[in-house]
Order: sequence, then structure tokens, then C-alpha cells
Amino acid sequence: MNLVILGMPGAGKGTQSAFISKFFDIPHISTGDMLRHAIQEKTKVGLEAESYINAGHFVPDDVILAIMAERLAEDDCKKGFLLDGFPRNLVQAEELDLMLKKHNLKIDHAINLSLEQSEVVKRLTSRRVCKKCASVYNVELLGSDICPKCGGEIIIRDDDKEEVIISRLKVYTEQTEPLVKYFSDKNILFEVDASVPIDDVWNEIKKMLEK
Ligand code: AP5
Repeated sequence: MNLVILGMPGAGKGTQSAFISKFFDIPHISTGDMLRHAIQEKTKVGLEAESYINAGHFVPDDVILAIMAERLAEDDCKKGFLLDGFPRNLVQAEELDLMLKKHNLKIDHAINLSLEQSEVVKRLTSRRVCKKCASVYNVELLGSDICPKCGGEIIIRDDDKEEVIISRLKVYTEQTEPLVKYFSDKNILFEVDASVPIDDVWNEIKKMLEK
């Protein structure tokens, strides 16, 4: 099963991707995680991406398309995959279709997590992440600055500052939201209400994908 998960920044894509990837045993491919890892490792891609991410802008398409072409050619993608954060605009969506076509593949379903913008801002300003294993937490539920899973340091993502969140939401509306129509026109879009608790969102997604 080849999947895409869509939604505003902070809608819960990463959170739900962890469930989907585990349950259906497919790799969770997050361009955001790949870029943050590249920044931490100070690779060429990381050095190029850092200023864009910290300003809430998109990393240039050519950089993203190159890393995705490489990632999708890896062996673990043969059993299916879940794309989180890619495609992010129409150019990337069309290029993805071409990339997959070469291997006789296509996207089977796109899941769109819908949520009010005010709730998204609340979620992002209270999000904390582990610097070591990238686990995601809510500061109100965490109660410590040590990751319960790996003992790593808990930090605030650089792009979760309020002024950067505003820029990310603007870019989402202008560039990513049109993808909802793109996938809907292909009759492969699932709309999911992301305002309910995490487990309820997951149950809804599971129910739809199992059909
Ligand atoms: P990326 O990492 O993809 O960021 P994003 O799309 O902005 O999404 P987030 O990771 O912020 O949120 P999420 O939807 O995964 O929410 P989460 O599950 O963490 O990209 C970062 C940057 O990289 C981009 O801005 C761009 O610069 C660059 N980039 C990446 N891909 C690119 C591409 N293809 N092209 C160009 N540039 C690219 O949840 C958020 C919080 O809410 C957490 O605290 C969580 O615990 C909580 N939560 C989740 N679900 C619920 C729920 N149901 N109820 C209550 N709380 C919840």
C-alpha cells in the first residue's frame, strides 16, 4: 500500500504516521525528519535546508526531489510506503507521479487530517521533541525534560516559534492545500477529522484503510 498523509503543520501527521507504519509494516518516510537529521549531521543538504526551515519556508523542490528519488529506490519501499510531508506542492506531486510511474507504481490513498488553524497553533506551541530519537510529546503531558523512551534531551523545534508557525501556515494555505483537490480529483482522498483524541483519529484511519 502506497500512502500519502496530508494536513496543516501540527495536524498530527507524524503522530498518526507512527501508528500506520507500525500496523501496516511500511516505512514512514518523513521529509521533515530527513531534513532535521541532515541539519543535525551538518550534511550538504542539511546546510542548505536549515535557513529555509527556520524561516518557515519550503526547501527548494530540486533538493527535495533528489532526496526522495533516492529514498524511494531503497529496498524497504518495495512493500509499500507512507509519505509524510511530501509532496508539498503541485510540482512535487506531479514529479512524484512520474517517479512512481517509472516503477509501475502509484499512490493508492491520500489521508487528509483536517483541523482548525487555532487548534494547530495550540498543538505546535505545546509540542516538544526528543533531540536523540525524534519522539514527539505535548509539554503539558510530559512533566520532564528527559525523553521517557531513550533518555535523550527534550527540546522545542526551531520552527515551532510562534512567528515561524504563522509563516508555515501561510505557505501551507498557498502551496499545500491545493493538493487536497489534486488527490480528490483522482478519487483517492480520505478526509479525517483530526480534532478528536489521538487514538480516535487512528481508529478512523485504520477503519478506512482496512476496507
Ligand atoms: P515537517 O516536519 O513535515 O513539518 P509540518 O508539515 O509543518 O508538520 P509537523 O511535523 O509540524 O506536524 P505534524 O502534522 O507531523 O504534527 P505532530 O504529529 O508532530 O516539515 C518541517 C519543514 O521542513 C517545513 O516547514 C519545510 O521547511 C521543510 N520541508 C519538509 N518537507 C518538505 C517538502 N516536501 N518540500 C519543501 N520543504 C519541506 O503533532 C503536533 C503536536 O500535536 C504534537 O505535540 C502531538 O503530540 C499533538 N497531537 C497530535 N495529534 C493530536 C490529537 N489528535 N489531539 C491532541 N494533540 C495531538
